[in-house]
Amino acid sequence: MEKPGFAIAIMAAGKGTRLKSKRPKVLHEIGGQALLLHVIAAARTVVPAEQIYCIVGHEADRVKAAVAPTGVNFVMQEEQRGTGHALQMVKAFFAMSGAAVPKHLLVLSGDVPLIKPETIAAICDLHLAEKAAMTILTAVPADPTGYGRVLRRNSDGPEVTAIVEQKSLKPEQLGAPEINSGIYCFETHELFAKLDLLSTDNAHGEFYLTDVAAMLVADGKRVVAVKAESVDEVLGANTIAEMMHLDAAMRMGTARRLMAQGVTIFRPETCVIDAQVTVGPDTVIEPYVQLLGGTTIGVESRVRSYSVIQNSTIGDGVMVRNGCILDHAQVSDGAVLGPYAHLRPESRIGEGAHVGNFVETKKVTLGKGSKANHLNYLGDAVIGAGVNIGAGAITCNYDGVHKHLTTIGDGVFVGSDSTLVAPVTLEAGSYVAAGSCITDDVPAGALALGRSRQITKPGWADAKRAARAKQN
Ligand code: UD1
Ligand code: CA
Repeated sequence: MEKPGFAIAIMAAGKGTRLKSKRPKVLHEIGGQALLLHVIAAARTVVPAEQIYCIVGHEADRVKAAVAPTGVNFVMQEEQRGTGHALQMVKAFFAMSGAAVPKHLLVLSGDVPLIKPETIAAICDLHLAEKAAMTILTAVPADPTGYGRVLRRNSDGPEVTAIVEQKSLKPEQLGAPEINSGIYCFETHELFAKLDLLSTDNAHGEFYLTDVAAMLVADGKRVVAVKAESVDEVLGANTIAEMMHLDAAMRMGTARRLMAQGVTIFRPETCVIDAQVTVGPDTVIEPYVQLLGGTTIGVESRVRSYSVIQNSTIGDGVMVRNGCILDHAQVSDGAVLGPYAHLRPESRIGEGAHVGNFVETKKVTLGKGSKANHLNYLGDAVIGAGVNIGAGAITCNYDGVHKHLTTIGDGVFVGSDSTLVAPVTLEAGSYVAAGSCITDDVPAGALALGRSRQITKPGWADAKRAARAKQN
């Protein structure tokens, strides 16, 4: 969809006062990713990163740090004096840097994040086909309050006469239904010629980019509007409530995409699925599941309710039972987790392995077919294949200063409630008796018992009871 001759400016310098938040607006997240990153991703489908100019100002360092890896350019707007002022900074940037001025300039808003690549491409095409000086993306939402309104010359023609901000609407214009999305395409020289003529003589005392429309029309230039296919795509986020509405819309879009690829998602409106997540066909996601960050899940797996899976890789045919929490974990094909398993970073669960009820793992490799089914803590351990870790057994990996490794060979049986004091090695095929405290390595095929002997006193309890009964 590459558009030669186009550059893209993204307005992202504003504070977002209406959010009442310390975090810059464009770094607020929907679908698990900052607004600005969504906009940059859409822009990248039309032009290379070198042709993208992000206008930053409020908390500029923080915004730049968050999006620098995308490779876009930054234009500084020290004082935020309005959207027109933001584009004045772009003009100044080109003059100062000597960078080639692009023929066409597409302007996106950092706070209108659901914009689709196809829509951006369509505006560029229409702009060229209409030979327009300015092309405006519009929509007709149920409630247009708060948005600038686009006034057309004729109701059925594409030509626009002006954009009027909410606060400047005359009483008879209050009902105007078509809103300005804040997304435009310009002939760059036509835009640049008008920027210095903008004034701050308006309700907000700001330079309005929107005023350029009427100025171009007054010069006899062609200004046209095109309606977006869906209203959701051009919704802005000025308040937290609006932000959450966009979040829900984006997540529903992600769920629909996955369902179209053969994933079953029961009650998708209850699930929280980030934009980047991938899931294979015939996998089933139950209600109230969260799939976050860069999580990927293979085919024919099932994630049961209340599980939260973050930045993890899950194979095919895996069963994640209810209430599991996974963070940066890798789970191989056919493994069974939970209910209520907690897989912390660098947990690598082997093929067909089981990690059961109330088991916590961290920096652990659990080999093929191994089982840790009940109430274990396994941290800093390399565990072979076919190992059985009994109920309540734990690794003691921390001496108060350093972490130490526990190594368990293939086919080892660790009896219930054992404590394995690292560094320690249980060689292949060895046995650890239940209730043992293991501080020394166990050779292959050996049995280790590390517990005090039981003493049994026949009749002791009966005698005690009898004595008590006498006292009362
Ligand atoms: C703007 C439009 C309005 C449109 C709406 C769509 C103007 C005057 N009005 O209003 O017609 O319906 O968007 O969402 O343009 N920004 C800067 N520098 C500034 C001011 C703003 O970079 O000095 C950035 C903001 O960070 C934001 C975008 O520009 O990403 C839009 O600014 P905002 O203040 O939200 O404009 P709206 O009032 O929403
Ligand atoms: Ca806005």
